Amino acid sequence: MKINGRHTRTIWLNADGWSLTVIDQTKLPHRFATLTLDSMTAAAQAIKTMTVRGAPLIGATAAYGLCLALREDASDEALERAYHVLIETRPTAINLKWALDEMMAGLRNIPRTERVAAAYARAGQICDQDVEICRRIGENGLALIRAVAAKKPGQRVNVLTHCNAGWLACIDWGTALAPIYMAHDAGIPVHVFVDETRPRNQGASLTAYELGAHGVPHTILADNAGGHFMQAGQVDLCIVGTDRVTANGDVANKIGTYLKALAAKDNGVPFYVALPHTTIDWTMPKGVGVIPIEERSAAEVLTMSGRLADGSVAVVEIAAPGSPAANPGFDVTPARLVTAFITERGVAPATAEGLLSLYPERR
Ligand code: MRU
Repeated sequence: MKINGRHTRTIWLNADGWSLTVIDQTKLPHRFATLTLDSMTAAAQAIKTMTVRGAPLIGATAAYGLCLALREDASDEALERAYHVLIETRPTAINLKWALDEMMAGLRNIPRTERVAAAYARAGQICDQDVEICRRIGENGLALIRAVAAKKPGQRVNVLTHCNAGWLACIDWGTALAPIYMAHDAGIPVHVFVDETRPRNQGASLTAYELGAHGVPHTILADNAGGHFMQAGQVDLCIVGTDRVTANGDVANKIGTYLKALAAKDNGVPFYVALPHTTIDWTMPKGVGVIPIEERSAAEVLTMSGRLADGSVAVVEIAAPGSPAANPGFDVTPARLVTAFITERGVAPATAEGLLSLYPERR
């Protein structure tokens, strides 16, 4: 996507051929800043601190983290050590494990002298493939938006989304937002209700930023408002991303997704989940009560950050001093609340059979 008129990905290899640049997403929307990753430790830290975030981007950054580790030491021991450091950075998004396993499969059995070059080649492929996968998700989701638009000619199509599953969460395009960008570019009058997504506000700070940069009309909603807009008939469809889908179709995504799916079900609003195959955890038969849920700092709930009139960014406390807070980062939406999955291979029901119809090689 374009930033200041320039095509930009979320992670790229520098001219030196080995270090990386990433967008520092903790600074958005107030400042567009980048960060150089020049060691495995820096890559791990960027994932942990959410400088980079979003399931596919976490995986891509970890893949390059292995490359950086191998530059310093290409031994078997160093490779295993780096794998274990990187896989511990965040627990919920399965793309992290997928990307690291892909890298290890290509690296374990080749001579040390060839490892660094092979690692960079595979990490580059993982990024390029993610871009193509997201583009296809966009095309497949566009058909759904087109069908809604055809039923209400001349009126805007209202899509509600949660958190950020746009290009900032991936390498380019995004998952949930790819169909929206394509609909907008195709001249469909699409409008997006953006859940603010407390406590880290990735909807307000990242999704709204992305959509605004691309010129897509949108409205930020307090997290509690989505049900009201659905009940009022003002939401045509919901599209969200996901961090892990289990074999039965249960969906882990940013905390609050489950409540939106419940409200959508009660109001007959289609609830779609957009995902690449790299987000499917075929080893887990079900998700509810099983997918590891990241427990994050209470400070994220007890404080908010924002820009002051003088342009500086400040953190303020919003609760009575001493009150404790719980902060699960994700929840699991049962498959029965999901209308369908939008993947790079097409659209299918959110069931075990639906997933297998798209990925028959997994039968
Ligand atoms: O904690 P984050 O910001 O990494 O969580 C991101 C989300 O929950 C996204 O919706 C999800 O990763 C899908 S991204 C294509």
